[in-house]
Amino acid sequence: MITIPRPQAEIIPLCERAAWKALRQHHAKIQNVHLRQLFAEDLRRGEHFAFEAVGLYFDYSKNRITDETISLLLELANQSGLRERIDAMFGGEKINVTEKRAVLHVALRTMKDESIKVDGTNVVPEVHDVLDQMTAFANHVRSGQWKGHTGKRVRNVINIGIGGSDLGPVMAYEALKYYSQRDMTFRFISNVDSTDFVEATRDLSADETLFIVSSKTFTTLETMTNARTAREWALQALGDEKAVARHFVAVSTNTAEVKKFGIDTANMFQFWDWVGGRYSMDSAIGLSTMIAIGPDQFRAMLAGFHAMDEHFRTATFDRNLPVLMGLLAVWYNNFFESQTIAVLPYEQYLKRFPAYLQQLTMESNEKHVTLDGTRVEYQTGPIFWGEPGTNGQHSFYQLIHQGTKLIPCDFIGFFQTLNPLGDHHDLLMSNVFAQAEALAFGKTPEEVRAEGTPDWLVPHRTFEGNRPSNVILAERLTPETLGKLVALYEHSVFTQGTIWQIDSFDQWGVELGKVLAQRIIPELEAAEDPSLKHDSSTNALIRRYRKLKGGAARMKKNG
Ligand code: F6P
Repeated sequence: MITIPRPQAEIIPLCERAAWKALRQHHAKIQNVHLRQLFAEDLRRGEHFAFEAVGLYFDYSKNRITDETISLLLELANQSGLRERIDAMFGGEKINVTEKRAVLHVALRTMKDESIKVDGTNVVPEVHDVLDQMTAFANHVRSGQWKGHTGKRVRNVINIGIGGSDLGPVMAYEALKYYSQRDMTFRFISNVDSTDFVEATRDLSADETLFIVSSKTFTTLETMTNARTAREWALQALGDEKAVARHFVAVSTNTAEVKKFGIDTANMFQFWDWVGGRYSMDSAIGLSTMIAIGPDQFRAMLAGFHAMDEHFRTATFDRNLPVLMGLLAVWYNNFFESQTIAVLPYEQYLKRFPAYLQQLTMESNEKHVTLDGTRVEYQTGPIFWGEPGTNGQHSFYQLIHQGTKLIPCDFIGFFQTLNPLGDHHDLLMSNVFAQAEALAFGKTPEEVRAEGTPDWLVPHRTFEGNRPSNVILAERLTPETLGKLVALYEHSVFTQGTIWQIDSFDQWGVELGKVLAQRIIPELEAAEDPSLKHDSSTNALIRRYRKLKGGAARMKKNG
């Protein structure tokens, strides 16, 4: 039987909450009010709807909101039991009800002297034991003390993982490359497509390469296939089973499977079932990050996460960054019926941040039933997407400025660049401010005409404006800032999931495809034509593949 945590069970269905109904009426009143009018009515709006917390400046004035909108959204948060849900998460309650698990990524960045209990046991000491183990190992590898099988130092680190066991490490490595040990190479293999493996290893020598096999379950098809291929690749070059111990380490919750694979459990870094895959970049899954930037910087990143956790846990909702961001996402998703949110970092190092956020947000909040299994009557999570600025401006910004879809945007920028070069940074940041301004205020037909534009061209050159955005600014991209940014989105996701009354921490939607693939694999590999019992489309596709894959193999042989 599923036990729904007490506070959530008492919550009345979303569409029946008084604040939800009031927001409907309020939306009808303000849906056509233009940001131009709102800014004209309050000359201090830019400061009124903006504040700084934990080192992040958050300007949400260019949203289609009034004070009334915010108080109704805050009321909705209260009526949705957000405070109780936050306390339940930090208190180690099993709020992931379908998997009967606590949700405690916040424990990964808790200070050593604090206590967070799961089933009566304080988990913080274990977290710090693993951090210490990671620290010792990372220092060994970085200093060259950790030797490969032939006695050479490790120069290349390859993380093998997928989903949460890949996206966080890749994103963090790219984001923090500035701080990384530059005489080492870091690569990431995730796709079961052999090209990923081949391209990642083609110019590396096995005797200088360390593989980190990262998988919470240690059963994921892609990761285990790539890990086996890596072992063959290494053994072919090194010719001795003993080499595995020097060239493979594992990050997992599954000791038995790690052993079975042949990795010495002394070289295994543990994490726990109360850490969701997409919430795990600050667990041992971050081992590659720690080797790249060093233990001190990794701990600085954890401190950033922790600062945002504390802000989320303690700040009043009207000055709470993740709460406000989450509520604004609900406002557009459910009242303006916008389908997506664009995340636009004006920082080249954050180029993988939108991809990272896609799993965090969409694996968490794209759910079709509430906690008790009732079909939702409203849209749940928006689609997250984005690219770093200014590149996106020259591809999809046309859509954001003049398309027929409403796309709220998060602009992320920094006061200082890590790589000062002429006036590049001023040019970059001028684009952040200009884009947010252009989206909000647009350009009226009168303004376009006044520039001498012929009448027939005026509609094409008109910008309606009234397109909302948040602007998030920080001093500069440091490990600490990255931690804050990631935790900001984690808790915004939590806020949204609480309003929608869904389980943001399971991911049953990924299971069916995995099961069907397991059934199809032998059908593709069988020597004799198998009897196929799928639908006619799947049967035909499998037959065609079987017929033509041989051709590809022949071509390669002959060519
Ligand atoms: O298929 C989705 C998923 O379960 C993600 O939630 C997870 O991050 C990923 O697969 C990888 O899982 P694992 O770390 O167990 O290999």
